[in-house]
Amino acid sequence: MGRGISLRCPSCGESPASKTVFHCVRCKRILEVNVEIAHLTRAEFRTMRESRDHSIWRWFEFFPVEDRGSIVSLGEGSTPLIHAARLGERLHIPNLYLKNDTVLPTGSLKDRSNSVGLSVGKELGFTTATVMSTGNAAASVAAYSAAAGLKSVVLVPKGTAPSKIIQARAYGATVIVVDGDFDYEVAKLYKAAIQEFGWYDCLSSNPYRDEGKKSYAYEFVDQLDGRIPDWVIHPTAGGTGIYAMWKGFKEFLSLGWIERAPKLVAAQSEAAAPIVAALEKGLTDVVPVVARETVAESIQVGNPVSLGWRALAALRESKGTAVALSDDEILEAQFLTGSLEGIFAEPAAATSAAVAKKLRASGVIGFDDLVVCNLTGHGLKQPEAVRIPDSELAPIEPTLEALREQLRHSEG
Ligand SMILES: Cc1ncc(COP(=O)(O)O)c(C=O)c1O
Ligand SMILES: [Zn+2]
Repeated sequence: MGRGISLRCPSCGESPASKTVFHCVRCKRILEVNVEIAHLTRAEFRTMRESRDHSIWRWFEFFPVEDRGSIVSLGEGSTPLIHAARLGERLHIPNLYLKNDTVLPTGSLKDRSNSVGLSVGKELGFTTATVMSTGNAAASVAAYSAAAGLKSVVLVPKGTAPSKIIQARAYGATVIVVDGDFDYEVAKLYKAAIQEFGWYDCLSSNPYRDEGKKSYAYEFVDQLDGRIPDWVIHPTAGGTGIYAMWKGFKEFLSLGWIERAPKLVAAQSEAAAPIVAALEKGLTDVVPVVARETVAESIQVGNPVSLGWRALAALRESKGTAVALSDDEILEAQFLTGSLEGIFAEPAAATSAAVAKKLRASGVIGFDDLVVCNLTGHGLKQPEAVRIPDSELAPIEPTLEALREQLRHSEG
């Protein structure tokens, strides 16, 4: 390939015969993308930083796309990295920053992945992209397929609320409702359909797609002007974010563009915390769990089969950790980020802020540490998580007296 882009098995080193094989034929592990970057200079780093393109594509040289003409972009990237002074004061972390990915084009971090994923899919000549998902991934794959001129097919389990698939439908996806359990029956059909119809797989089993979240690392270095966070906390499901951020930081380290990397922290819900469990037990692979109901719906993943083990390695190498949270802790963090910082994050996304609070309270995070929390999805993705008491919704008489009374009630 012209730009030195290749696939390789991270376990046994095997290389596939074709660019469209995503798993090692020997050990079944997901393959890893390698992009040759050793030639990049500091001058090029400056040019990338000064680029007028504020999307992730200012970092084109790090992504596995041969030709700039293949880029499928909706302007994703360079999301605000906000110094959260008020929340920081509350949590006793004055150097607290929030990476506001709620403002990405489809409202979640998935756009970082799918911009890269669909660019490669288009370059490889696919005409239909697919994903199985009940939420953010479906919307994002549908939007980027539309932007790429590809069709998209989304598989969801029976019982999925229409509100979860409306966004994907609006972007033109064909939504197929399957009578079966998500992790097993829908997953089995998903694999079989890819084989049968030759669709482009947009799950985390697609190594090209997974490269997109490396952009977090590049953006932190850029936006903090060379300061390196002590901690980056990421809401974690499949493990792509942790794995890819670490890869991004290691790339910059290998080029000498940074001198150290942050400790990475995976934030999970207690109801679906296989990565926390594996880290605590000292395992190198994740043992799947059956995910229970949680308010953090978008990270309710019990079997991070593709990249869970890679995320574990990244957490260890970075000397980071993983933390599980109760629904109450998650909802409190959602309220705090909204009411103190003006950012409406979905519950799954607010887990990062909840972990910051917890690790500060236990002294793991120090007072002076520079902490970044990734807020990975918009609160409007799951509006029903914000509970409003009936008493607040009851109409009042249109008088000042009634207004005063209601204010006393609401503020009390
Ligand atoms: C809102 C939100 N946050 C975080 C994630 C985490 O995914 P990952 O661990 O693959 O980076 C997801 C996706 O599953 C998500 O939808
Ligand atoms: Zn292998």
